[in-house]
Amino acid sequence: MAQVIGVISLKGGVGKTSTVVSLGASLAKDFSQRVLIVDANYSAPNLGHHFGLTNPEKTIQDVLSDKTDIKDVIHEHEDSGLHIIPAAMIARKVQDPFALKKKLNQIKKYYDYILIDSSPSLNEEIVSTMAASDQLFVVTTPDTPTLESTMKAIRIARQKSIPITGLILNKVRGKNFETSIEDIEKLTGVPVIAKIRDHDHALEAVAKQHPVTMLKEKSPVSIEYKKLAAAITGKHYSDPRFHAKVADAFRRQPEKQVINRHILYYS
Ligand SMILES: Nc1ncnc2c1ncn2[C@@H]1O[C@H](COP(=O)(O)OP(=O)(O)OP(=O)(O)O)[C@@H](O)[C@H]1O
Ligand SMILES: [Mg+2]
Repeated sequence: MAQVIGVISLKGGVGKTSTVVSLGASLAKDFSQRVLIVDANYSAPNLGHHFGLTNPEKTIQDVLSDKTDIKDVIHEHEDSGLHIIPAAMIARKVQDPFALKKKLNQIKKYYDYILIDSSPSLNEEIVSTMAASDQLFVVTTPDTPTLESTMKAIRIARQKSIPITGLILNKVRGKNFETSIEDIEKLTGVPVIAKIRDHDHALEAVAKQHPVTMLKEKSPVSIEYKKLAAAITGKHYSDPRFHAKVADAFRRQPEKQVINRHILYYS
Protein backbone atom coordinates (compact mmCIF):
# COMPACT_ATOMS: atom_id res chain seq x y z
CA MET A 1 0.00 0.00 0.00
CA ALA A 2 1.33 3.43 -0.95
CA GLN A 3 2.33 5.98 1.62
CA VAL A 4 0.45 9.14 0.64
CA ILE A 5 2.52 12.27 1.23
CA GLY A 6 0.84 15.65 0.88
CA VAL A 7 3.17 18.52 0.02
CA ILE A 8 1.63 21.71 1.34
CA SER A 9 2.16 25.39 2.11
CA LEU A 10 -0.15 28.34 2.66
CA LYS A 11 2.13 30.64 0.67
CA GLY A 12 2.25 30.42 -3.11
CA GLY A 13 5.46 29.94 -5.05
CA VAL A 14 7.58 28.41 -2.28
CA GLY A 15 8.30 25.18 -4.18
CA LYS A 16 5.53 22.61 -3.60
CA THR A 17 5.24 21.58 -7.25
CA SER A 18 9.04 21.57 -7.71
CA THR A 19 9.34 19.32 -4.64
CA VAL A 20 6.69 16.88 -5.86
CA VAL A 21 8.35 16.67 -9.29
CA SER A 22 11.94 16.37 -8.04
CA LEU A 23 11.32 14.07 -5.09
CA GLY A 24 8.91 11.97 -7.14
CA ALA A 25 11.37 11.63 -10.03
CA SER A 26 14.19 10.68 -7.69
CA LEU A 27 12.10 8.07 -5.85
CA ALA A 28 11.08 6.55 -9.18
CA LYS A 29 14.29 6.81 -11.18
CA ASP A 30 17.09 6.63 -8.58
CA PHE A 31 15.40 4.32 -6.08
CA SER A 32 13.13 2.22 -8.33
CA GLN A 33 9.95 3.02 -6.41
CA ARG A 34 6.46 2.92 -7.92
CA VAL A 35 5.42 6.56 -7.66
CA LEU A 36 2.31 8.51 -8.57
CA ILE A 37 2.21 12.30 -8.40
CA VAL A 38 -1.12 14.10 -8.33
CA ASP A 39 -1.98 17.72 -9.03
CA ALA A 40 -4.45 18.81 -6.35
CA ASN A 41 -3.91 22.52 -6.97
CA TYR A 42 -7.26 22.55 -8.71
CA SER A 43 -7.67 26.28 -9.33
CA ALA A 44 -4.07 27.01 -10.39
CA PRO A 45 -2.56 23.71 -11.54
CA ASN A 46 0.82 23.41 -13.22
CA LEU A 47 2.26 20.01 -12.34
CA GLY A 48 1.77 18.84 -15.95
CA HIS A 49 3.85 21.74 -17.27
CA HIS A 50 6.94 20.29 -15.62
CA PHE A 51 6.63 17.34 -18.03
CA GLY A 52 5.34 19.11 -21.14
CA LEU A 53 1.78 17.99 -20.37
CA THR A 54 0.24 21.37 -21.09
CA ASN A 55 -3.33 20.64 -22.06
CA PRO A 56 -4.15 17.14 -20.84
CA GLU A 57 -7.38 15.68 -22.10
CA LYS A 58 -8.24 13.79 -18.92
CA THR A 59 -7.60 15.26 -15.52
CA ILE A 60 -8.19 14.83 -11.81
CA GLN A 61 -11.32 16.98 -12.07
CA ASP A 62 -12.88 14.35 -14.38
CA VAL A 63 -12.26 11.79 -11.66
CA LEU A 64 -13.57 13.92 -8.81
CA SER A 65 -16.77 14.64 -10.73
CA ASP A 66 -17.21 10.88 -11.34
CA LYS A 67 -16.93 11.32 -15.12
CA THR A 68 -13.85 9.13 -15.50
CA ASP A 69 -12.21 6.23 -13.74
CA ILE A 70 -9.02 7.26 -11.91
CA LYS A 71 -7.00 4.63 -13.80
CA ASP A 72 -7.87 6.36 -17.07
CA VAL A 73 -6.31 9.72 -16.17
CA ILE A 74 -2.84 8.40 -15.30
CA HIS A 75 -0.11 9.63 -17.63
CA GLU A 76 3.23 7.83 -17.75
CA HIS A 77 6.51 9.73 -17.92
CA GLU A 78 8.72 7.31 -19.79
CA ASP A 79 12.12 8.73 -18.83
CA SER A 80 11.54 8.57 -15.09
CA GLY A 81 8.83 5.91 -14.77
CA LEU A 82 6.70 8.40 -12.85
CA HIS A 83 2.93 8.21 -13.09
CA ILE A 84 1.23 11.60 -13.21
CA ILE A 85 -2.36 12.75 -12.70
CA PRO A 86 -2.61 16.33 -13.98
CA ALA A 87 -5.33 18.88 -13.30
CA ALA A 88 -7.23 21.16 -15.65
CA MET A 89 -7.17 24.92 -15.47
CA ILE A 90 -10.81 25.29 -14.50
CA ALA A 91 -11.88 27.06 -11.37
CA ARG A 92 -14.65 24.92 -9.97
CA LYS A 93 -15.41 24.71 -6.29
CA VAL A 94 -14.36 21.46 -4.62
CA GLN A 95 -17.66 19.79 -3.73
CA ASP A 96 -16.35 17.01 -1.52
CA PRO A 97 -12.93 17.50 0.15
CA PHE A 98 -12.85 13.74 0.87
CA ALA A 99 -13.36 12.72 -2.77
CA LEU A 100 -9.61 12.71 -3.54
CA LYS A 101 -8.95 10.36 -0.63
CA LYS A 102 -11.70 7.99 -1.77
CA LYS A 103 -10.41 7.95 -5.36
CA LEU A 104 -6.75 7.44 -4.37
CA ASN A 105 -7.78 4.56 -2.11
CA GLN A 106 -8.80 2.70 -5.28
CA ILE A 107 -5.22 2.71 -6.63
CA LYS A 108 -3.05 2.87 -3.50
CA LYS A 109 -2.13 -0.77 -3.86
CA TYR A 110 -0.30 -0.18 -7.14
CA TYR A 111 2.23 2.28 -5.69
CA ASP A 112 4.92 2.64 -3.05
CA TYR A 113 4.44 6.42 -2.80
CA ILE A 114 1.78 8.88 -3.86
CA LEU A 115 2.81 12.54 -3.67
CA ILE A 116 0.09 15.20 -3.73
CA ASP A 117 0.86 18.71 -4.98
CA SER A 118 -1.40 20.97 -2.94
CA SER A 119 -2.98 24.32 -3.51
CA PRO A 120 -1.79 27.11 -1.17
CA SER A 121 -5.37 28.37 -0.76
CA LEU A 122 -6.88 28.13 2.68
CA ASN A 123 -10.11 26.49 1.53
CA GLU A 124 -11.45 23.06 0.49
CA GLU A 125 -8.52 22.68 -1.92
CA ILE A 126 -5.86 22.32 0.77
CA VAL A 127 -8.29 20.33 2.94
CA SER A 128 -8.64 17.89 0.05
CA THR A 129 -4.86 17.26 0.14
CA MET A 130 -4.74 17.05 3.93
CA ALA A 131 -7.63 14.61 4.09
CA ALA A 132 -6.05 12.31 1.49
CA SER A 133 -2.58 12.27 3.08
CA ASP A 134 -1.04 9.84 5.55
CA GLN A 135 1.62 12.43 6.31
CA LEU A 136 2.53 15.95 5.26
CA PHE A 137 5.69 17.69 4.13
CA VAL A 138 5.43 21.45 4.56
CA VAL A 139 7.46 23.57 2.15
CA THR A 140 8.78 26.88 3.41
CA THR A 141 11.41 29.48 2.64
CA PRO A 142 13.59 31.04 5.36
CA ASP A 143 11.88 34.46 5.55
CA THR A 144 9.49 35.82 8.17
CA PRO A 145 6.32 36.30 6.04
CA THR A 146 6.56 32.76 4.66
CA LEU A 147 7.33 31.32 8.09
CA GLU A 148 4.18 32.95 9.45
CA SER A 149 2.14 31.18 6.77
CA THR A 150 4.03 27.98 7.50
CA MET A 151 3.10 28.13 11.18
CA LYS A 152 -0.53 28.64 10.20
CA ALA A 153 -0.43 25.63 7.86
CA ILE A 154 1.07 23.53 10.65
CA ARG A 155 -1.62 24.67 13.11
CA ILE A 156 -4.38 23.69 10.68
CA ALA A 157 -2.84 20.28 9.96
CA ARG A 158 -2.49 19.63 13.70
CA GLN A 159 -6.13 20.62 14.30
CA LYS A 160 -7.05 18.00 11.70
CA SER A 161 -4.68 15.46 13.28
CA ILE A 162 -2.71 14.90 10.08
CA PRO A 163 0.90 14.01 10.96
CA ILE A 164 3.51 16.54 9.78
CA THR A 165 6.72 14.68 9.14
CA GLY A 166 8.99 17.56 8.28
CA LEU A 167 9.75 20.87 6.67
CA ILE A 168 11.35 21.23 3.28
CA LEU A 169 13.35 24.45 3.51
CA ASN A 170 13.62 25.76 -0.04
CA LYS A 171 15.32 28.63 -1.86
CA VAL A 172 18.06 28.95 0.75
CA ARG A 173 20.73 31.50 -0.21
CA GLY A 174 22.97 31.09 2.81
CA LYS A 175 22.68 34.77 3.78
CA ASN A 176 22.99 35.77 7.41
CA PHE A 177 19.64 37.60 7.34
CA GLU A 178 17.81 34.34 6.62
CA THR A 179 16.16 32.58 9.56
CA SER A 180 18.37 29.69 10.69
CA ILE A 181 17.26 26.06 10.76
CA GLU A 182 17.49 26.08 14.57
CA ASP A 183 15.15 29.11 14.81
CA ILE A 184 12.76 27.67 12.22
CA GLU A 185 12.51 24.44 14.21
CA LYS A 186 11.98 26.39 17.45
CA LEU A 187 9.22 28.46 15.84
CA THR A 188 7.40 25.59 14.18
CA GLY A 189 8.21 22.59 16.34
CA VAL A 190 8.78 20.61 13.12
CA PRO A 191 12.14 19.18 11.99
CA VAL A 192 13.74 20.43 8.78
CA ILE A 193 14.32 17.35 6.60
CA ALA A 194 15.79 19.00 3.53
CA LYS A 195 17.61 22.26 2.85
CA ILE A 196 17.49 23.19 -0.81
CA ARG A 197 19.57 25.95 -2.31
CA ASP A 198 18.08 28.75 -4.35
CA HIS A 199 19.54 27.81 -7.72
CA ASP A 200 19.00 28.46 -11.43
CA HIS A 201 18.93 24.72 -12.08
CA ALA A 202 15.44 24.59 -10.51
CA LEU A 203 14.21 27.17 -13.01
CA GLU A 204 16.05 25.60 -15.94
CA ALA A 205 14.38 22.26 -15.24
CA VAL A 206 10.92 23.84 -15.49
CA ALA A 207 11.87 25.60 -18.73
CA LYS A 208 13.17 22.33 -20.20
CA GLN A 209 10.20 20.36 -18.87
CA HIS A 210 12.31 17.72 -17.22
CA PRO A 211 12.83 16.89 -13.51
CA VAL A 212 15.95 18.62 -12.20
CA THR A 213 17.19 15.37 -10.65
CA MET A 214 17.49 13.95 -14.18
CA LEU A 215 18.44 17.08 -16.10
CA LYS A 216 21.19 18.16 -13.68
CA GLU A 217 22.07 15.08 -11.71
CA LYS A 218 24.87 16.71 -9.71
CA SER A 219 23.12 20.00 -9.05
CA PRO A 220 22.97 20.87 -5.33
CA VAL A 221 19.20 21.00 -5.76
CA SER A 222 19.10 17.47 -7.18
CA ILE A 223 21.51 16.01 -4.63
CA GLU A 224 19.38 17.23 -1.71
CA TYR A 225 16.21 15.73 -3.21
CA LYS A 226 18.07 12.47 -3.82
CA LYS A 227 19.24 12.42 -0.19
CA LEU A 228 15.66 12.98 0.92
CA ALA A 229 14.41 10.17 -1.36
CA ALA A 230 17.12 7.87 0.00
CA ALA A 231 16.11 8.61 3.58
CA ILE A 232 12.42 8.01 2.83
CA THR A 233 13.15 4.61 1.29
CA GLY A 234 15.81 3.68 3.84
CA LYS A 235 18.37 3.23 1.06
CA HIS A 236 21.95 4.36 0.89
CA TYR A 237 22.96 7.35 -1.23
CA SER A 238 26.43 8.72 -1.46
CA ASP A 239 26.97 12.31 -2.62
CA PRO A 240 29.02 11.95 -5.83
CA ARG A 241 30.63 15.42 -5.60
CA PHE A 242 34.27 15.44 -4.54
CA HIS A 243 34.07 18.75 -2.65
CA ALA A 244 31.05 17.46 -0.68
CA LYS A 245 32.97 14.36 0.40
CA VAL A 246 35.86 16.57 1.58
CA ALA A 247 33.50 18.93 3.42
CA ASP A 248 31.78 15.97 5.11
CA ALA A 249 35.13 14.54 6.22
CA PHE A 250 36.05 17.81 7.98
CA ARG A 251 32.63 18.47 9.54
CA ARG A 252 32.56 17.81 13.28
CA GLN A 253 28.94 16.70 13.25
CA PRO A 254 26.37 16.14 10.50
CA GLU A 255 24.14 19.05 9.50
CA LYS A 256 20.76 19.31 11.26
CA GLN A 257 18.69 18.20 8.26
CA VAL A 258 20.92 15.16 7.82
CA ILE A 259 20.37 14.10 11.44
CA ASN A 260 16.63 14.80 11.15
CA ARG A 261 16.27 12.60 8.09
CA HIS A 262 16.88 9.51 10.21
CA ILE A 263 13.28 9.78 11.44
CA LEU A 264 11.88 9.47 7.93
CA TYR A 265 12.19 5.79 7.30
CA TYR A 266 10.09 5.03 10.37
CA SER A 267 7.37 7.62 9.76
N1 LIG B 1 15.34 25.81 -5.13
C1 LIG B 1 14.90 26.67 -6.02
N2 LIG B 1 15.72 27.63 -6.53
C2 LIG B 1 15.27 28.52 -7.44
N3 LIG B 1 14.02 28.58 -7.90
C3 LIG B 1 13.15 27.67 -7.43
C4 LIG B 1 13.53 26.67 -6.46
N4 LIG B 1 12.44 25.91 -6.20
C5 LIG B 1 11.44 26.39 -6.95
N5 LIG B 1 11.85 27.43 -7.69
C6 LIG B 1 11.07 28.24 -8.64
O1 LIG B 1 10.10 28.98 -7.90
C7 LIG B 1 8.89 29.07 -8.65
C8 LIG B 1 7.74 28.52 -7.80
O2 LIG B 1 7.99 27.13 -7.59
P1 LIG B 1 6.77 26.10 -7.51
O3 LIG B 1 5.87 26.28 -8.68
O4 LIG B 1 7.37 24.77 -7.28
O5 LIG B 1 6.07 26.64 -6.19
P2 LIG B 1 4.63 26.24 -5.62
O6 LIG B 1 4.74 26.30 -4.14
O7 LIG B 1 4.18 24.98 -6.21
O8 LIG B 1 3.76 27.45 -6.18
P3 LIG B 1 2.12 27.54 -6.19
O9 LIG B 1 1.72 27.82 -4.78
O10 LIG B 1 1.86 28.69 -7.10
O11 LIG B 1 1.60 26.25 -6.69
C9 LIG B 1 9.13 28.31 -9.95
O12 LIG B 1 9.51 29.21 -10.93
C10 LIG B 1 10.27 27.36 -9.60
O13 LIG B 1 11.04 27.02 -10.72
MG1 LIG C 1 2.45 24.58 -7.31
